[in-house]
Amino acid sequence: MSKKHTVPRGCADIAPPEIYHWQTLEYALRDVLQAYNYQEIRTPIFEDTELFARSMGQSSDVVMKQMLNLASQRPSEDGHPRLSGLSLRPENTASVVRSYIQQGLDRRESLTKLFYLGPMFRGERPQKGRLRQFHQVGVEAIGPHAQSPFLDAEVVALSADMLQAAGIKEFVININTLGSVEDKENFSGWLRQQLGARLDELDEEDRGRFDRNVFRVLDSKNAATRKVVGSIDMQQFKLSTDSQAYFEQVLKALDRLKITYRVDPTLVRGLDYYTHTVYEITSSALGSQDALGAGGRYNRLVSQLGGPDVGAVGFALGLERILLALNPKDDAVQNGPAVFVIAFDEDSFERAWEATSLLRRAGIRADMAYQVGSVKSLMRQANKSGAAQTVILGKDELARGVVGLKDMASGEQQDVSIGSNDYQQLIEILKERL
Ligand code: HAM
Repeated sequence: MSKKHTVPRGCADIAPPEIYHWQTLEYALRDVLQAYNYQEIRTPIFEDTELFARSMGQSSDVVMKQMLNLASQRPSEDGHPRLSGLSLRPENTASVVRSYIQQGLDRRESLTKLFYLGPMFRGERPQKGRLRQFHQVGVEAIGPHAQSPFLDAEVVALSADMLQAAGIKEFVININTLGSVEDKENFSGWLRQQLGARLDELDEEDRGRFDRNVFRVLDSKNAATRKVVGSIDMQQFKLSTDSQAYFEQVLKALDRLKITYRVDPTLVRGLDYYTHTVYEITSSALGSQDALGAGGRYNRLVSQLGGPDVGAVGFALGLERILLALNPKDDAVQNGPAVFVIAFDEDSFERAWEATSLLRRAGIRADMAYQVGSVKSLMRQANKSGAAQTVILGKDELARGVVGLKDMASGEQQDVSIGSNDYQQLIEILKERL
């Protein structure tokens, strides 16, 4: 027997009926994005590996452990695969910034507001809510005019509105500030001092994180490290007055919109590009992977990647996680045809096929039984399709120049003339009924 292939680990097929939940979700999210005037962008699903390393940071878990690199067509001389220098995108912020710079968008507009929706790839250990191919919807607002704290608040509000539009009622917005690039450097030095005295309490992995990038210690899941981190009074570190004032403006703007949040001084986010506002939205309906989405400001990234010195802020939500939290019921979806066409014999079959095609061209959602059979079996099939109306063709109907039209709810059946084979009357009746 030949080998049966299965979907790769950590990936999923999204097929009916599940796909309808995705579609409903995507439409709802797109409506909110439109209200906030974000335009869609679609970038390639792979980019230069270097782009991701330079933006998210060499020391980030994503770059160190989770990049899915593409191999080159040509193996090296010893037969080992050679890297192509390309990787599947683990997120979309770097690609959007790459595109912004490449298109010279700062010369065209003072603020570019883009959104994306699509698959991302991370070589993680799969578990509930954590996949290797997952989907994000996200936004990036970039440009010379992207420096306002109201834009940070807008982005937080937008993500909350999108979750609400999706049907998620309860979530927590955890927010913090990292301050300016200088503040971040000072904070890093201060953290190194605090943690440096207690390095012996950290395990080897976290000591490595301490050496490479001290912020990564704050993301550690290790219980002993979490205890050390928890005992540090982060409020002792003072941001510059300007950065503190900026953060207060962001929070005040959120207060004006009556958006509730929790300031979490230990929140630093696992990616290197953030400055000032960072936030994460969690839901208790999820398990250990409880982040529905996250984002923040990244003022240095555009210039760091060779672009102009402009501001930027954005976020991404995980679609699988939203659906996990929603847990929608499959029986609530009805996406079958509105009309089902059946034929009892070979002569009628061709007519049935023609009628179905004409109904479809008239914009009516129609399908048919692609085999002839007994009244009983074909009616069973029509019932199963969920269609509200069934069109019936047989020798007797054809002889009289009609089709039978059965209303499935009332069970009533009537003859409808096929006209000069244009089924005009049928189309009119169906359009009225549906
Ligand atoms: P992130 O926190 O890495 O941020 O991912 C955002 C969201 O994507 C997470 O909160 C989660 O819902 C979902 N997600 C991430 N990894 C997985 C996974 N393996 N399986 C399922 N869902 C996952 C970013 O990606 C940033 N680019 C967000 C951003 C945009 N910051 C500024 N602009």
